[in-house]
Amino acid sequence: MGAWPRTWCWRRQQLHGSPRPAATRFWSLCWLVLGAWRGLLASACPASCTCSAEQIWCLEPAGNLTSFPVLGKRSAPEKVTDIYIANQRKLESINESDVRSYVGLRNLTVVNSGLKFVSTKAFLKNPSLHYINLSGNKFSSLSRKSFRHLNLTDLILDGNPFKCNCDIMWIKIYQETKFPKTQDFYCMNDFNQNISLREKPVTNCGLPSVRLNTQNLTVIEGRSVTLYCEATGSPSPSIAWVFNNIVSKHENDTNKNPASLTIKNISSNDSGVQISCVAENIVGEDQASVDLVVFFAPNITYLEIPYPDHHWCIPFSVRGNPQPILTWLHDGVKLNESVYIWTKIHVVNQTEYHGCLQLDNPTHVNNGDYTLVAQNQYGKDEASISAYFMEDPGGSSFYTHLGYSEDYGTPTDNFEDTTNNSNPVTSTDVSDKNNEDSITVYVVVGIAALVCTGLVILLIILKFGRHSKFGMKGSVLFHKIPLDG
Ligand SMILES: *[C@@H]1O[C@H](CO)[C@@H](O)[C@H](O)[C@H]1NC(C)=O
Ligand SMILES: *[C@@H]1O[C@H](CO)[C@@H](O)[C@H](O)[C@H]1NC(C)=O
Ligand SMILES: *[C@@H]1O[C@H](CO)[C@@H](O)[C@H](O)[C@H]1NC(C)=O
Ligand SMILES: *[C@@H]1O[C@H](CO)[C@@H](O)[C@H](O)[C@H]1NC(C)=O
Ligand SMILES: *[C@@H]1O[C@H](CO)[C@@H](O)[C@H](O)[C@H]1NC(C)=O
Ligand SMILES: *[C@@H]1O[C@H](CO)[C@@H](O)[C@H](O)[C@H]1NC(C)=O
Ligand SMILES: *[C@@H]1O[C@H](CO)[C@@H](O)[C@H](O)[C@H]1NC(C)=O
Ligand SMILES: *[C@@H]1O[C@H](CO)[C@@H](O)[C@H](O)[C@H]1NC(C)=O
Ligand SMILES: *[C@@H]1O[C@H](CO)[C@@H](O)[C@H](O)[C@H]1NC(C)=O
Ligand SMILES: *[C@@H]1O[C@H](CO)[C@@H](O)[C@H](O)[C@H]1NC(C)=O
Ligand SMILES: *[C@@H]1O[C@H](CO)[C@@H](O)[C@H](O)[C@H]1NC(C)=O
Ligand SMILES: *[C@@H]1O[C@H](CO)[C@@H](O)[C@H](O)[C@H]1NC(C)=O
Repeated sequence: MGAWPRTWCWRRQQLHGSPRPAATRFWSLCWLVLGAWRGLLASACPASCTCSAEQIWCLEPAGNLTSFPVLGKRSAPEKVTDIYIANQRKLESINESDVRSYVGLRNLTVVNSGLKFVSTKAFLKNPSLHYINLSGNKFSSLSRKSFRHLNLTDLILDGNPFKCNCDIMWIKIYQETKFPKTQDFYCMNDFNQNISLREKPVTNCGLPSVRLNTQNLTVIEGRSVTLYCEATGSPSPSIAWVFNNIVSKHENDTNKNPASLTIKNISSNDSGVQISCVAENIVGEDQASVDLVVFFAPNITYLEIPYPDHHWCIPFSVRGNPQPILTWLHDGVKLNESVYIWTKIHVVNQTEYHGCLQLDNPTHVNNGDYTLVAQNQYGKDEASISAYFMEDPGGSSFYTHLGYSEDYGTPTDNFEDTTNNSNPVTSTDVSDKNNEDSITVYVVVGIAALVCTGLVILLIILKFGRHSKFGMKGSVLFHKIPLDG
């Protein structure tokens, strides 16, 4: 802020070389401007303090500061990173809104002053605050709540007349856990004796400890569950349940010990939510967590027609917990997966599985209806899609279907019947791939078919039908015609 006029004046001086009368006049003007600038800054700065853009010092040995220094809005308090206050005997408190505007504050030193009180909300708006030195003040007590949300590298509190009380025992624990190397800490007992906190001058004062009634919260969708949290500690702690959104209805009772949390009619959407129980008293806090696992029947939420990727892909999304076992039916017959056709899960998100039935160079024999069956011990879901990859090069898919119908009986939509026999159609699909001989056979059979003119006309009509909509109806029609004739 104050940097540019100074730089500018210095540059002028360089330019003009040794000062000449004109330059001297200019020079005085320069200092005048600079002085005014400084005055402006100073006026925003409290008396007995010195301010720069980033720092505020209030060091006057006979300082008369009675409240925490506050800058006017025009002075950009958000840029201040360091506040250093010393020897202000009349400064007794840091109140709720005193430090609020210094959002970028990093170091706060208030030493050898008269502080007795710091609001528990004083530093709520100062996330960068990491160094606090409050040594040599008049604190007899200080709440942990003022500092608990801060990520401090230093919290210096020595030289205060703290009273031996459970209210300050957090300081010992805080310093032991965060700054293990800090010096010993003293308090005054009821007889004004100076006692080390190491000697445990306060009884019935300890960290809370929590225990959940289960480590494994596994529930079936639609059921209800109650989780219990037992907390010990002295003074007796308050208990709170902490979790991100739970969509299921839930209610809690934290006035009892153990505290309870009941979740009703549990939704599968709540699977994976972490539930924590937090107990807190003036000394500190403890927490325990458990992951909610919801078991539920599979649900196929997405199944679409194939699209060409590196391989062809029939995309799907399935939800289910435990992970559903996925099987496919091709035209109602179990599809045996192979190096040419296989299921691949691409993305797993909690209990959602997104993947593809991948097909490597599918041909006309792969055309047809694909049914995805997803199953786990809680149930089953299925969904179908019609796939058309390629026109039959040999003329007619009619004969393929005819032969298949004669050899293996009526194609059926009954999955149970077909799930456990080895599937001749699919294995043919795979082994016939790029097989010149079978194509020749198809051609011959196709030519033979031409003899039956009536049938040919019928076929042409049907072929146009397949071009326009290669859906389920087309292939069903194909099955039915030879059986009727
Ligand atoms: C506080 O001290 C400053 C100088 O240190 C002085 O200018 C100011 O008048 C004093 N204010 C009061 C209220 O005594
Ligand atoms: C700070 O808060 C205390 C107690 O709430 C009050 O007595 C005091 O006047 C406040 N100080 C200032 C400067 O607002
Ligand atoms: C204030 O903060 C800066 C940067 O975070 C650090 O380098 C400096 O040592 C701190 N001052 C004190 C007195 O700790
Ligand atoms: C706290 O501030 C005082 C006064 O500036 C200083 O003497 C002391 O070294 C500081 N303590 C630490 C640990 O930085
Ligand atoms: C706390 O600060 C330290 C370094 O000062 C940093 O490594 C750590 O990630 C911070 N923790 C949080 C929760 O911000
Ligand atoms: C308490 O004793 C320690 C070590 O003997 C000393 O450093 C500290 O200043 C004393 N505190 C008070 C308030 O007398
Ligand atoms: C949690 O419960 C599930 C189902 O009841 C069980 O399979 C699993 O082994 C349990 N895990 C632990 C750590 O108890
Ligand atoms: C616990 O219940 C109280 C009162 O019914 C409610 O205000 C609070 O939000 C609940 N807490 C949670 C985590 O659901
Ligand atoms: C349970 O929740 C489902 C949807 O999440 C709802 O359809 C059903 O009616 C609920 N059952 C009860 C008993 O509340
Ligand atoms: C569960 O999530 C799905 C989408 O992820 C949403 O459509 C459904 O409504 C949710 N169910 C409940 C009970 O919130
Ligand atoms: C399956 O998910 C869809 C939404 O994705 C939902 O409408 C349907 O109710 C779900 N079915 C079951 C059985 O949960
Ligand atoms: C996981 O699914 C949830 C909702 O179903 C969604 O909000 C979240 O973004 C998904 N996460 C990833 C990594 O896809």
